[in-house]
Amino acid sequence: MGASPLILRGASIWQGWLDRDAQSMMLQDIRDVVRKAPLLRPITPRGQAMSVRMSAAGRFGWVSDSGGYRYSEQHPQTGTPWPEIPHSVMAVWTALSGYHRPPECCLVNFYDSQARMGMHQDRDEQDFDAPVVSISLGEKGLFRIGNHTRGGKTDSLWLSSGDVVVMGGDARLRYHGIDRIQPGSSTLMPNGGRVNLTLRVVTPPA
Ligand code: SIN
Ligand code: FE2
Repeated sequence: MGASPLILRGASIWQGWLDRDAQSMMLQDIRDVVRKAPLLRPITPRGQAMSVRMSAAGRFGWVSDSGGYRYSEQHPQTGTPWPEIPHSVMAVWTALSGYHRPPECCLVNFYDSQARMGMHQDRDEQDFDAPVVSISLGEKGLFRIGNHTRGGKTDSLWLSSGDVVVMGGDARLRYHGIDRIQPGSSTLMPNGGRVNLTLRVVTPPA
C-alpha cells in the first residue's frame, strides 16, 4: 500500500491498496453479488452490445438499453432490487473518498480478454462533488484519462489487481476509458478476466 497516491490528471491512483487476501475476499463478495444480480451485457442506445458485462450493488445500478442510460433500482432482467454493497467495498470508500455521503451504487464491470470501455464521462449522477472510486481486481487494464471534453491528449496507465483510483475534484468529469486487458497478467481469477468496481453517489445532495 503506497503512503501517497500517484496523481494522473487529478485522479489519485493508490497502487496496491488491497493486498492479495483482501482482493480474494472482495472477489468472493462480488461473486455473491453476481449470483443474486447476474452480469448482463448492456445495449447502448444506438443498439450495440457493450463488450463489458455489468451488474451492480447498492440502491442503484446503472443500466442501458434502447431507452438510454440511467440509474435503476431494479435489475433489468430479474426485476428485483440490487444486493447490498459488500462491507469490504464500503471500507475502501470510507478510507479513500474523503466524502461525507455513502455510495449509492457499486457498479460491477467484468472484462473478458476482448472487452474494453470507450472514452466516456461519468455524468449520470447528480452530485459531482462526490468522487467516483474505482477498484481493480484480476488482470491488468490499460486506463486512459483525458480532458473535460472529448478528444485531445490523454495519459495512460496499467491498473493492476488491488489498485484503487479516486476520480474527484478536477478529475471527476474527465473522459476516461479502458483500452484493453492484459490476458494472463493475474492469477486472482482462475478463468482470467478483470473486475472493476466503481462506487458512486447518485442522488442530489439534501
Ligand atoms: C468505468 O469507467 O466505468 C470503468 C473504469 C475501469 O474499468 O477501470
Ligand atoms: Fe467511467
